Amino acid sequence: MRQALANWTTPGPVPAMDDATFGRWVDLLERRTGVVVPPGRKAFLVAALRTRMREAGKSSFEAYFDEILDGPRGAIEWATLVDRLTVHQTHFFRHPPSLDLVARDWLPAYRAGQSDAPIHAWSIGCATGEEAFTLAMVLDRAMAAGGRGYYGITATDISAAALAVGRGATYPVAKLDEIPLSYREAYCAPAGEVFAEDGGVRAPRGFEEADSFTIAEPLRKRVGFVQFNLLDVARAPLKRLDLIYCQNVLIYFARERRAGLLQAIADLLKPGGLLVLGAGEVLGFNHPQLTRLGGPQTLAFRRNA
Ligand SMILES: C[S@@+](CC[C@H](N)C(=O)[O-])C[C@H]1O[C@@H](n2cnc3c(N)ncnc32)[C@H](O)[C@@H]1O
Repeated sequence: MRQALANWTTPGPVPAMDDATFGRWVDLLERRTGVVVPPGRKAFLVAALRTRMREAGKSSFEAYFDEILDGPRGAIEWATLVDRLTVHQTHFFRHPPSLDLVARDWLPAYRAGQSDAPIHAWSIGCATGEEAFTLAMVLDRAMAAGGRGYYGITATDISAAALAVGRGATYPVAKLDEIPLSYREAYCAPAGEVFAEDGGVRAPRGFEEADSFTIAEPLRKRVGFVQFNLLDVARAPLKRLDLIYCQNVLIYFARERRAGLLQAIADLLKPGGLLVLGAGEVLGFNHPQLTRLGGPQTLAFRRNA
């Protein structure tokens, strides 16, 4: 009886995962997110599942798998789990050559003759928002240099937890180093509280005192975070985009899926619009309406006029 109660209150250790069970989880993840977990990443998948199962009080991979498939309750659990099973590693200004391409090689020519037309950009697989805010900083500065003009960025990801961080727009101060100084000064502000001399708390006076920083309000207003599964791109509510930025997402997808998704993504671009992928992320992609722009350090395509 005591043993039964103990099992009920705290789950026993989660056993090892056999190959058949691993295959079922890999298949589910691929079907629902597009993300492929190769055999070499089994340890990552098992560790992430174990952590979540411990939190949820589950001790069998098989029973937990069946629960995930079980109606609305399973859907709620899946929303938490998907965040644990996807990789959210990201940085501000992650790939400077791609950003230079946007600001120098594409934007000025694209805006010539229509300098006050708004620019709508899409950051696909934006994780915790660093990519979207980087684009906002780069577009803000480049557009100010070329006259006036409105821009907006839709930032999407499958992970609700990652999007919540982006909406908060507050990051550990260690991440400031990722942002070039002039952008930092223009678009970031110290955040949080420090102990004041009188024993209370006050706002930090500078980055040196702060343990976090926030993105400036005018920029935050330009970025909207929305949960969206890239596998649904053919039904995307976005249309006629000027710039689509999709880096370090398709790399996790099966090769056979990438071409179809890219085709659907490219169809959402306006004539003259730019699609920026991660350099080396997609091999041999071509599309009759797209022309490669930029050198070997980047992988970007402009939609023909
Ligand atoms: C490694 S991060 C890349 C972040 C950012 N794009 C960058 O390059 O720094 C990959 C992101 O893709 C997201 N992702 C994975 N599968 C997805 C899907 N089917 N739909 C939308 N986002 C997805 C993950 O949640 C994760 O946040």
